[in-house]
Amino acid sequence: MRKGFYISTPVGVVAIILCAGALATIIGLSVVYSQEKAKNNDVAPTEGGISTKPPATTSVPSNDPWDNYRLPKSLVPECYNVILWPRLTPDMTTGLYIFTGESSVDFECAEETDLILIHSNKLNYTEFDNKILANLTSLTGGKAPPINSSWLQDVTQYLVIQLDGKLMKGHRYRLYTKFTGELADDLGGFYRSKYLEDGKEKIVATTQMQPTDARKAFPCFDEPAMKATFNITILHDHGTVALSNGEQKESGNYTINGNHVLKTVFEPTPKMSTYLLAFIVSDFDSISSNTVNDVLIRIFARRTAIAAGHGQYALNITGTILQFFEDYYNVSYPLPKSDQIALPDFNAGAMENWGLITYRETALLYNEDFSSNSNKERVATIIAHELAHMWFGNLVTLKWWNDLWLNEGFASYVEYLGADKAEPEWKVKDLIVLNDVHRVFAIDALASSHPLSSKEEDIQTPAQINELFDAISYSKGASVLRMLSDFLTEDVFKMGLQTYLTEFEYGNAVYTDLWKHLQMAVNASGITLPDSVRNIMNTWVLQMGFPVVTINTSTAVVSQQHFLLDPDSEVSTPSPFQYQWIVPIKWMKNAVNHSTLWLQTESANIDEMSVSGDDWVLANLDVVGYYRVNYDQGNWENLLRILSTSHSLIPRINRAQLVDDAFNLARARIIPTVLALRTTKYLYSEREYMPWQSAMNNLDFFYLMFDRSEVYGPLQDYLRKQVTPLFEHYKNLTGNWSSVPDGHMDQYNQVNAISLACKTGVKECHNLTATWFNQWMDTKENMIQPNLRSTVYCNAIAAGGADEWEFAWSQFQNATIAIEADKLRYALACTKQPWLLNRYLEYTLNPSLIRKQDATSTIVYIAQNVIGQSLAWDFVRARWSYIFTQYGGGSFSFSNLINGVTERFSSEYELHPLKQFKADNAVVGFGSGTLALDQSIERTMGNIKWIAENKQNVLDWLEAETKYTSH
Ligand code: BES
Ligand code: ZN
Repeated sequence: MRKGFYISTPVGVVAIILCAGALATIIGLSVVYSQEKAKNNDVAPTEGGISTKPPATTSVPSNDPWDNYRLPKSLVPECYNVILWPRLTPDMTTGLYIFTGESSVDFECAEETDLILIHSNKLNYTEFDNKILANLTSLTGGKAPPINSSWLQDVTQYLVIQLDGKLMKGHRYRLYTKFTGELADDLGGFYRSKYLEDGKEKIVATTQMQPTDARKAFPCFDEPAMKATFNITILHDHGTVALSNGEQKESGNYTINGNHVLKTVFEPTPKMSTYLLAFIVSDFDSISSNTVNDVLIRIFARRTAIAAGHGQYALNITGTILQFFEDYYNVSYPLPKSDQIALPDFNAGAMENWGLITYRETALLYNEDFSSNSNKERVATIIAHELAHMWFGNLVTLKWWNDLWLNEGFASYVEYLGADKAEPEWKVKDLIVLNDVHRVFAIDALASSHPLSSKEEDIQTPAQINELFDAISYSKGASVLRMLSDFLTEDVFKMGLQTYLTEFEYGNAVYTDLWKHLQMAVNASGITLPDSVRNIMNTWVLQMGFPVVTINTSTAVVSQQHFLLDPDSEVSTPSPFQYQWIVPIKWMKNAVNHSTLWLQTESANIDEMSVSGDDWVLANLDVVGYYRVNYDQGNWENLLRILSTSHSLIPRINRAQLVDDAFNLARARIIPTVLALRTTKYLYSEREYMPWQSAMNNLDFFYLMFDRSEVYGPLQDYLRKQVTPLFEHYKNLTGNWSSVPDGHMDQYNQVNAISLACKTGVKECHNLTATWFNQWMDTKENMIQPNLRSTVYCNAIAAGGADEWEFAWSQFQNATIAIEADKLRYALACTKQPWLLNRYLEYTLNPSLIRKQDATSTIVYIAQNVIGQSLAWDFVRARWSYIFTQYGGGSFSFSNLINGVTERFSSEYELHPLKQFKADNAVVGFGSGTLALDQSIERTMGNIKWIAENKQNVLDWLEAETKYTSH
């Protein structure tokens, strides 16, 4: 690994030298916020004075450049010098937490212009002479043109500077500003987080810039292709530590307006995008280690968490994963250090700031007394995901947000490879099928889905950018890249990646650049494909949805068709490929693998796939293909027979797939629902996690549809019968629940066994969970095994009353370990008491009771409870505009919220208010929930039809199954 700081081009080096020391003397950051605010509130005075905004700021979009959300190409930033001073105590007069700052940006003029547009949001500027908000100087010699006027354009989030003369092409300039902002608790830009330690409230100043909030911290050209180098300096109190992307260069005493503080200067960053910047002030502690190549690895967290060793696991695996990605990409880790920090308040799960990755506490900290195997897996995969971005995303960045799917989809695929390297025993790579492929199939089978790729011009506003962070970008992106890597072979895939990263390092690319490099690797390797990488991938990337491949083993005809969960739904978006895909088919005949076939047309004769008698065909091995498979009746019968007689002939991922495909084909009315139910009969003798989890996910839909109807009883009876052997199996395996199963997947399935046994009313299970919980309440000592805690707490609280709830609530409030608090927060939503649920809903919007980052997921937990669902829906409807404005439109939380509260909808009585909700709040908006809302309307309509068509069949089948004891 290279040490120190690198820019690959000579231009970069020149830029740094020229930029260094630009703010060598800090002129007092002395402005009192209240005064500033008063002065700047009206930053665009309406009359007189040369600094007023030019006429016509109507709300009608104009052709004026400052009403365009995209920056003009006339100015190219090279280097920033930024000094920030966040205050960790509130301002005496206003009571607000603030930060003050100074920034200068050196830029080159690429096209002559008399206008400077630079992003700025919610910042108040110190005025220079004549109320001008910035100062412009020339770096090339000569004078910069004078500023005519300057103002803030709120809607498009610009600081606009109108000049009296032109900036000259090829000349370089420096723009200097001095500003104040609020260090709010809004989880975006430069914000504050708080926590209690040793009875004291402590504040952390931290950042979340992606996608468009760097402009909330200092004025900047806030687009991913506007890469520059950044010299960051932070002023902070003694006793606190400042961190940023670069290594600390120096830190020393500094006095500002009589305040004795520390001034910490960081090494300049390499050329990078603004959304990857980070700076943090805290009194956190850290642990560190060095990898073989001398990269400093550090884990930061609250002092008590570090002292208790909760950062150790992350530290242990980071080196292995970094090394893995260095080999995978064949490019050294591009920075001298890798910091990772766990924050008490954080909106997403983690953020890949270059060299300073930020996490929620639950995503980074691990402790074996409190964390489940699932928590541990999340730590490993999320670390791998963010480290993967250090190259793919950070070193090479997509030009614009429309290609976000490639960035997030890629990291979401290789996170499994990185985690597998750290924990090879887990077989975690298989889980992408449940976590991503199956998850996104449910959404991508709707007519209201959308293609992976968006056009650059369709993505303009911050809201539109935020909407892209959805399951399609993440999980479909991951799924199709996994398919691609598989049919190219991993070696060829890696070779293409390596040359892609090398060509575009410290720069930007578009997704077709990756196809170009993969094609070069294909050509060099001599592997044969039915078409070019680009043409094959276009069918997966440019049209929404995916096919169902139907294999008729008696006629040998193989065909494809756009798979729609509701076949009556109307697909209004035309596809450039008429909803046909180029499909790689990995398959086996009678448990013998055959070589991959390609389906390139709507239908084809594939003689090898014709079988008769007891012979059987199974396609889409390990579900590497992003499609579903259907068969003729005879082959289905053969597969069902194999499942019930010798299921291990079918790979376990495919056992999970057969269940998932069958249930979804039935929902799409392609096969009878009874056939789908029959795939669950063999579960009586299944012990593996993946098929069980797949069945439980699909049966959850039956619960959602039927748990308020007469189907519920027989459904419970049937599943109780099916799960009982699994429950007994784990009871024996663990010596009457006294030990933990060895395997990772076994640990998961033990939780399934208990959850489903309790859910279906297995008495022994209820006794078990109640006894464990009561023991805890009585002795105040929690002996419950961490893997089992969520389900045990949930079942005990569901079976209990106010006492159990209050006990859990007080445990939640006193929990100092986030992972434990999360389990309790989930379980508190399991009570069957409406008054407790309603009170809990009220708590969700009180940030002193439930952290803002957790509000929406708590509401969703409540909605998942059959009793809580309507309460949560009424609550969300009544408070939408408050929730939306207070809890931000960013990140995934709003799509999860809408999906969560509407999941159970299956009647006209629910559909109508849902449509009304959409109409009523059109003005407020739905942020990342916009598409989710259309999807839930479509899903509700599908559910209404499904119930009408299936209720009787399902009831009859379940009753028949439970009457006779044969399996
Ligand atoms: N870049 C994202 C974080 C992010 C998400 C920023 C949404 C802004 C808006 C990060 O790389 C990420 O994807 N985080 C995931 C974790 C991952 C394992 C799927 C997250 O936060 O859940
Ligand atoms: Zn990511």
